[in-house]
Amino acid sequence: MRANEVLVSLKKSIASIAQSVTYKAFGVEQPEVDGWEQAALWSNMFGRRGSLRPTGEITHDRREDARHYYPSHQRAEIALAAAQLWRGGDYWEFGSSPLSTMCNMLSAFDLNRLDQTYPDTRFYAFDLFGQGANSTSNEKSVDYSPEYFATYTRGDALAEHQAALEKHGLFVDRCTLVQGFFEDSLTAQRREDYLAQGRKIGFAFLDCNIMPSYKTVFEFLDGMLKPFSFVYMDEYFLQEVYLYWEQFRERLRDKHGIGTAYLRNAGSFGALFALHPLQTTAPPLEFAD
Ligand SMILES: C[S@@+](CC[C@H](N)C(=O)[O-])C[C@H]1O[C@@H](n2cnc3c(N)ncnc32)[C@H](O)[C@@H]1O
Repeated sequence: MRANEVLVSLKKSIASIAQSVTYKAFGVEQPEVDGWEQAALWSNMFGRRGSLRPTGEITHDRREDARHYYPSHQRAEIALAAAQLWRGGDYWEFGSSPLSTMCNMLSAFDLNRLDQTYPDTRFYAFDLFGQGANSTSNEKSVDYSPEYFATYTRGDALAEHQAALEKHGLFVDRCTLVQGFFEDSLTAQRREDYLAQGRKIGFAFLDCNIMPSYKTVFEFLDGMLKPFSFVYMDEYFLQEVYLYWEQFRERLRDKHGIGTAYLRNAGSFGALFALHPLQTTAPPLEFAD
């Protein structure tokens, strides 16, 4: 063997050892991944300078774990971002099953010890909770998207969701799961009763998947939000949700004197906005010309 062949073979062996160490670091040989290990798997996806490692030989399951980790992690960051700047109000979530994003918010609230400053904040989750197309409640909704609602129909799963919430174990007595079509549960009466209690929404989290459901929710939300609230839309960059948001933010500005500012995205598809008052006691800017 000539010297440069030795060198090439040596390089190959080193590369293969390095690769097997990398795959080990990815945990390829471990059959089960629990939550904490999954986080380690994700951080091992990145090399020393932060770029992605080669992924060619990781197993299918590991690839799927790693791929899903990114958007889920960023959704969790949305809850942390809102908790970081929290200025009161209730959390209302539209599209909640299987409660991952709801639980994100409860954990973020707890991590920041917000329960001490805001002992009165409540958490609402609106969803079919399994009871969709075969419930007789709202034929109109089923009409506009039968395939969609068929996917989310699997019999009454409210008790199962309530049990999951209890297992998560945070602020359970402040949480309310509201089962049914938004078109049935988001009534003018509900809005009126809620506002009459002097309450306001501090974070409206919309994860409704389909445009008609976004429409129903935005129409309901008129007058429910306050300055320093948050609005998150999970399909903002995926569908024409941004067009509904444009109409809604105009309404916020013109009717309610509330401005909106884009805060961040999640997983490339979701968008978080923060609301702020438009009136200020600070003197206006005076420009030279
Ligand atoms: C993507 S899932 C929500 C996922 C949830 N945010 C999580 O991360 O755990 C969308 C949910 O929206 C609900 N949904 C969509 N349109 C609805 C409507 N008009 N009425 C009631 N629920 C609706 C579906 O039942 C479904 O569970």
